[in-house]
Amino acid sequence: MEKFTSADKRTVYCGTLTAADVGKRVTVAGWAQRQRDLGALIFIDLRDRTGIVQLAFDDNTDRAIFDDAFGVRAEFVISASGVVRARGEGAVNPNMATGEVEIAVDRMKILGRAETPPFAIVENSDVKSELRLTHRYLDLRRPDMQRNIIARSKIVGLTRNYFADNGFIDIETPCLIKPTPEGARDYLVPSRVHPGNFYALPQSPQLYKQLLMYSGFDRYIQIARCFRDEDLRADRQPEFTQIDLEMSFADEEDIIALNEGYIKYIFDNFMNMPLETPFPRMTYAEAMERYGSDKPDTRFGLELCDISDIAGKTGFGVFSGAVADGGSVRAINVPGGASMARKEIDSLVEFVKTYGAKGLAWYKHAADGTVSSSFAKFLTEDEIAAITAKTGTGAGDLLLVVAAKNSVVFDSLGALRCEVAKRLGMIDKSKFNFLWVTEFPLFEYDEDDGRYYAKHHPFTMPMLEDYDKIDTDPGSVRARAYDCVLNGTELGGGSIRIHTTEMQTKMFSVLGITEDDAKEKFGFLLEAFKYGVPPHGGLAFGLDRLVTLLLGLEDIREVIAFPKVQNASELMSKCPAAADPASLEELGIAVVVDEKE
Ligand code: AMO
Repeated sequence: MEKFTSADKRTVYCGTLTAADVGKRVTVAGWAQRQRDLGALIFIDLRDRTGIVQLAFDDNTDRAIFDDAFGVRAEFVISASGVVRARGEGAVNPNMATGEVEIAVDRMKILGRAETPPFAIVENSDVKSELRLTHRYLDLRRPDMQRNIIARSKIVGLTRNYFADNGFIDIETPCLIKPTPEGARDYLVPSRVHPGNFYALPQSPQLYKQLLMYSGFDRYIQIARCFRDEDLRADRQPEFTQIDLEMSFADEEDIIALNEGYIKYIFDNFMNMPLETPFPRMTYAEAMERYGSDKPDTRFGLELCDISDIAGKTGFGVFSGAVADGGSVRAINVPGGASMARKEIDSLVEFVKTYGAKGLAWYKHAADGTVSSSFAKFLTEDEIAAITAKTGTGAGDLLLVVAAKNSVVFDSLGALRCEVAKRLGMIDKSKFNFLWVTEFPLFEYDEDDGRYYAKHHPFTMPMLEDYDKIDTDPGSVRARAYDCVLNGTELGGGSIRIHTTEMQTKMFSVLGITEDDAKEKFGFLLEAFKYGVPPHGGLAFGLDRLVTLLLGLEDIREVIAFPKVQNASELMSKCPAAADPASLEELGIAVVVDEKE
């Protein structure tokens, strides 16, 4: 392989050349997209991260260079120099940014050879995701992936600027921390020096950023890597990045205003799109009641309608039973939904079952007036009339009904409205509907464990109006917590934090954390409370989710250079992997794995 010399160094990027450069001598470097051999003429499309330019070799080209060009294959790495010239008439390519020009090459060096890659390096390839991720370095060469990763970098740069301009201090918090009992599962890291002891990778910098407020830094920001051992989805990775911030002497209004300013700044400077602020706000209770979700997509209607008052009194056991058991019967009227075929409705029935509903009752009022329904025969005409009137179901519409305990009704109908909107093309993809959801419950009751968990985290301040119910009715206490929702995705979340020992101790006691436990796990925090803690609060946005949504994509893997797949492994390097027995011995770890697993 030939040496890389100063003559090989690029003077311009391929994608930047235009008619204005005609006559200039340039050196470009990159990958051969393709080589076309027309006998007396050879063309090589050369690609770098800015685009493609055509290299031309002809009768005037030195013979040795022409022969080299003849041997070039896709993905060879090349440096070439020459004079930019206008393409002949008829040879102009209007589909290419540099389509008016080409480089008449008089010097070329092959800097790296390539075997035929397992897939073509082109835009929007429909190559299987496993193959893309196994050869991620090739996948990342594709122009759309380059654009995504570069866009992410721009957004990170703007983020740093905005927060620095607003007086925030960028502080790194540790990645080897104490395991936490709350929240998702921790990734554990064994300690060699303290055999049998473990660090955890942070699920978020939560406690450290609070401690930085106690230390007087006042405004903290970090683009922080977080780790959570939880089930993967399209918007979840085991390691992901947060735009994490905290402010002292601030309340909800300050934090919300500052973050609306941030999103607006990104829209002004990255999206080049105006964005209206303040964003709408909705309480958690209203979001659940209207959308069955604490992260509602408000780009379309299909709101839930509670018909328990009517359905609960009918002779239809599925409806009346659900209400009698403390649940509810709720419905979504799908305008124009009567056009859905029976088969399609059946698939919606299967869809809600994945959310725990036993079934989906439906009532189809065709445009010609005919009615078919899975439940109408069990109800009186008056009951049907009352339900259609309350839900506004008319000719051409389809009413979808779930009867179950409330959590199942909300989960299934909340997901169903999104699914139906997607299938019927009711979502305006050009919209960016931001929303603050406020007044979240402080606690969540887990029926399996028979105890309360913190809905956000155990450091969130309760709303003072509800504080007197904290012992008697914890489930009804609301938190000073807020989520930022964009088009049905939770983009960020935060809260005002507890800053007194009394309140923190009370919180731990409701969570069933004993005094000894609290001391053992959070002793440093309780100790720190003794020495003067300012009122404070903060928020974290999911950077991966933000970039994904701004680029109109659906999977956060498209904006992460080296993501993991569903089972949390990374296909390229093949991790996780077994550890060397000597390392395990040094750590005092014996691995016990069921052979079958
Ligand atoms: P929370 O747990 O809500 O809050 O996380 C904040 C935001 O991080 C993103 N996010 C994720 N993104 C990708 N993959 C994941 N597995 C994942 N989990 C969360 C989401 C989410 O809204 N310490 C608090 C913040 C605070 O109170 O200041 C926290 O971590 O976009």
